Amino acid sequence: MSADTDMEALMDMTRDQLHAAATRYYKKRGPTEPDVALIEYGAARAVFKDYGRAPGWFNRLIAPVLLWREASALAALDDLAGVPRLYRRVDARGLLIEHCPATAWPQARAGDIAYQRLDALVTAMHERGVAHGDLRGGGNILVDDQDRPYLVDFVSRIRRGRPWNLPWNWIFGQLAAADRSALAKLRVRHARHLATADDYERHRPSTGFARFARSVGQRIRRGVRFFGARS
Ligand SMILES: Nc1ncnc2c1ncn2[C@@H]1O[C@H](COP(=O)(O)OP(=O)(O)O)[C@@H](O)[C@H]1O
Ligand SMILES: [Mg+2]
Repeated sequence: MSADTDMEALMDMTRDQLHAAATRYYKKRGPTEPDVALIEYGAARAVFKDYGRAPGWFNRLIAPVLLWREASALAALDDLAGVPRLYRRVDARGLLIEHCPATAWPQARAGDIAYQRLDALVTAMHERGVAHGDLRGGGNILVDDQDRPYLVDFVSRIRRGRPWNLPWNWIFGQLAAADRSALAKLRVRHARHLATADDYERHRPSTGFARFARSVGQRIRRGVRFFGARS
């Protein structure tokens, strides 16, 4: 079987077949959390992000919105190396995406060049009108053993608005600044020799709205979890 045929098979699998082909769960579902699984079939690999087995109203009502947020950002960033390709929307609750053969940044030992490339990747993402919004902590930033960076988990993203939509674009700018401050934090934490004085300034959340905007993504999640836990 060729890799192409194996990939075609993945593209036709049902949710149950995909779960049966899972070789690893990065994360197991909770009331408001998806399963995130590595699927391997022959030579083909993919990551399955699936809210389809989460119980209750969250799964029915909110999960499709979160999944749409993620899928639309991945589609907008389709040409950007370092962002996984969107292979397939399994249905409103499940996405099949490219597997990035990489490790979460805090657990990896990224070389200096990886930090430079990550900077360029985040800049290119912002130029395409997407701010990630959930890069703090580093679990959504991966790096492979050739120092190539990847960004995953676009649920908290914000997209730039039309030019006249100044309030929205201001929020976009705040979230983009939060992304850059997450990179400053990575340097301060894991590559002190690369951290500038400015990084030390920026890596701590400042007061006021900047801090609020920086944690918008996390607030969305926490809110969702709060309500989800009560369903
Ligand atoms: N495309 C991918 N390639 C490799 N690993 C991935 C990929 N997508 C997610 N992961 C791993 O799974 C973890 C959870 O996925 P994520 O999309 O961050 O879910 P959540 O929105 O619940 O945080 C990530 O932190 C990462 O380690
Ligand atoms: Mg995540």
